[in-house]
Amino acid sequence: MKQWNFLQVSIHLRDLDRASGLLWNLGTQGIEEQHLKTSKVRIKAYFDAASDIRTLTQKFKFQCASASLPLHSISSKTEIERDWFKKWREQVNPFAVGQRFYLIPCQEPANPIPEDRFPIRLEPGMAFGTGTHETTQLCLESLEQYLLPKRDFLDIGTGSGILAIAATKLGARRVVACDVDPVVIRIARANAVINRCASKIKFVLGEITEIGNSRFDFLVANLTLEIVEESLFQMLKRLRPGGWLALSGILDRQLPQFNRRLRETSLIFQERKKKGEWICLVLRRGQGG
Ligand SMILES: C[S@@+](CC[C@H](N)C(=O)[O-])C[C@H]1O[C@@H](n2cnc3c(N)ncnc32)[C@H](O)[C@@H]1O
Repeated sequence: MKQWNFLQVSIHLRDLDRASGLLWNLGTQGIEEQHLKTSKVRIKAYFDAASDIRTLTQKFKFQCASASLPLHSISSKTEIERDWFKKWREQVNPFAVGQRFYLIPCQEPANPIPEDRFPIRLEPGMAFGTGTHETTQLCLESLEQYLLPKRDFLDIGTGSGILAIAATKLGARRVVACDVDPVVIRIARANAVINRCASKIKFVLGEITEIGNSRFDFLVANLTLEIVEESLFQMLKRLRPGGWLALSGILDRQLPQFNRRLRETSLIFQERKKKGEWICLVLRRGQGG
């Protein structure tokens, strides 16, 4: 039977997204949430048994302190597998996102599917992108609003493949999706097969620089501010004049910092979408350059 290390923390509900984001960055393979009274939530983050849970705990504490994120309690342990993933799946019923999408955890029969929505079946496994996170939802809403049919689409940091799959449903012509994590690329491919769009998506292992120099009409990147800032020049190189760029994984309070960086580019601000603390910036490259 498999063993897992896990980290259990209690935090205020308002800090849930930020804490989950830090745990995903530390490599958690799944998170369980238990909502408590008095606006608190207990989260249990599972890590592989080979992970060094003491070091992970220290890192997490340090990152929370740096981010001014108060922890009400924190503990770590090793646990025999209780099929947490199955449990997670049971907690998530099919749900609608935006005006066009209907997300279905793979094991759900999901009948009936609303007629005016595109179903996306997902088995996220160890990849981020179940569609429950605000940043993913903001990206999906940007796609349904701005991505026209027969356009070329690039998904940077594809995770479960959710945004690339959504782009094919909206009629994108050529879809390329990259991710630095080889496990994630396998999961994204499997999800594309489940959604019968594998032949329309080219999955690339690596950063944006690995996809070559071809240009796209729409780029989406749900990463972190640091990675977005680092890759912005490479993104612009691959965006056609008049093309759209949707950037998420950015916290609202980070916007002033990012705006300074944006002013150095020729990108035109289109919209700021917001859910909780998270934003998605929709930008456009001028027709002239
Ligand atoms: C927050 S998840 C987003 C997943 C999915 N696109 C979504 O919106 O739900 C970010 C993904 O980006 C990947 N990633 C991190 N740094 C990257 C980089 N420099 N280039 C490409 N992918 C990266 C991670 O492995 C992870 O799968």
